Amino acid sequence: MGTDVRKAVAPTPLRGEISLPGDKSISHRAILFSSFARGKARVLTSVLGRDNFASLRIMRQLGTKASGALSQKMLSLASEEGLDGFSLSGDDTCEIVIEGMGLQGFSSAGSALDCGNSGTTARLLCGLLSGQQFESQLIGDHSLQSRPFKRVTEPLGHMGARFSGDRLPLTIFGPEGAKLKGIAYDSPRASAQVKSALLLAGLQADGDVRVSESHCSRDHTERMLSAMGCHLESGLRADGRWEVLLPDSGKRDHYDALDIVVPSDFSAAAFFLVAGSIVPGSEIMMRNVGFNKTRIGLFSILEGMGASFTCENARSVGGEEVVDILVRSASLRGVSVSAEDVVLAIDEIPILAIAAAFAEGETLISGASELRVKESDRLTMTANILQYFGVPVEELPDGLRIQGQSFEAPGTIERVDDSWKSTGDHRIAMSGAVLGFAQGLGFELHDKEAVETSFPTFADCFQLLT
Ligand code: S3P
Repeated sequence: MGTDVRKAVAPTPLRGEISLPGDKSISHRAILFSSFARGKARVLTSVLGRDNFASLRIMRQLGTKASGALSQKMLSLASEEGLDGFSLSGDDTCEIVIEGMGLQGFSSAGSALDCGNSGTTARLLCGLLSGQQFESQLIGDHSLQSRPFKRVTEPLGHMGARFSGDRLPLTIFGPEGAKLKGIAYDSPRASAQVKSALLLAGLQADGDVRVSESHCSRDHTERMLSAMGCHLESGLRADGRWEVLLPDSGKRDHYDALDIVVPSDFSAAAFFLVAGSIVPGSEIMMRNVGFNKTRIGLFSILEGMGASFTCENARSVGGEEVVDILVRSASLRGVSVSAEDVVLAIDEIPILAIAAAFAEGETLISGASELRVKESDRLTMTANILQYFGVPVEELPDGLRIQGQSFEAPGTIERVDDSWKSTGDHRIAMSGAVLGFAQGLGFELHDKEAVETSFPTFADCFQLLT
């Protein structure tokens, strides 16, 4: 707790072009899936975060060979994450070469697999490792240990998978019987991590795997597995639910190793879509931004609020849509955000709330209770940031009600609860930095290490634009 009274000045407009990290979700999948493909896969990207390095370290522990060239910054971060043996790329690009050995090629790590802060790593590994004939132990940091895993262990259990419990540290035993079996599962939540875990287990099971969800969550797993030669079907069911089917006949003995060019992360672009919109006089160019329709809910919500975006050069890269986006500052108005919108913007609600603070009128976000079990309780933490900066906000059980443009001048209020500064949550830290900057308090980033889980160059991007 502390007291913080500062004088605000007009924020410097954010102008220029920035290069964003590679998509975190796609990078996890590229690393995991290439490890069970047959042959050499190349993953081409720019910046990776600690979460992706955790996935890579674990696949090495399980016997995958990975080499390649990293930029200087990534070489240091990789080394901090216990990953050596990479060369220096000499520029800002990274190329990771993964030698896949097939689904039967993995061997017991002999020590715990540390997923760090990464829920995607841990939940996807629950699926991948539950079909393997050896025991594995997943561990993680304090935040990951508090996150729920029943959402994957329960349906995987129906497939014959065996786990020591529903939280990390978690031991994954080999399947009950010789092999896992198929499943038809109506997931109570739209979750790409759940869907992906079941599909990865399904690749090693006898029988069909069907997973349905209320709305289609991010579909990178389906796209990448299809490109590797797996046959998947998906579509809307008669009852309105979205279903993905991995038929038994759709599985292969070998999956193809791919060259994967990872698009820039839309979830990283999100901070600058908002910052560029709310800081007067801004104009920011971001190229090669992943524009998969299951990810870009924030883009549509901000457009509905009056944001000024120009998309150019729409193209497809490795089965994923990509665009160049120019954002210019604009006057925003409040908006209503429903559960359906939240699925497509699941990681962007904190930064959306910052946009709402600068919009005219009220913004009501509902159907977002899932945010309470992310890297932190993101509804409480977002409310804390807004309150800290003087923005009127009401925390609801499943959302937030924000009164835009009615905050007190930052220099005139006493801030006492500064607990948001050390939540260990990367997206909360970056959202707080954008809000403080837009209020004219300068750029201040707390929790730098947490930010490195997804966006190690966040502060560099800000510096480049000011
Ligand atoms: C992710 C899925 C989402 C998202 C997370 C990444 C993924 O989680 O919040 O940051 O890569 O599959 P849920 O599947 O729990 O919605």
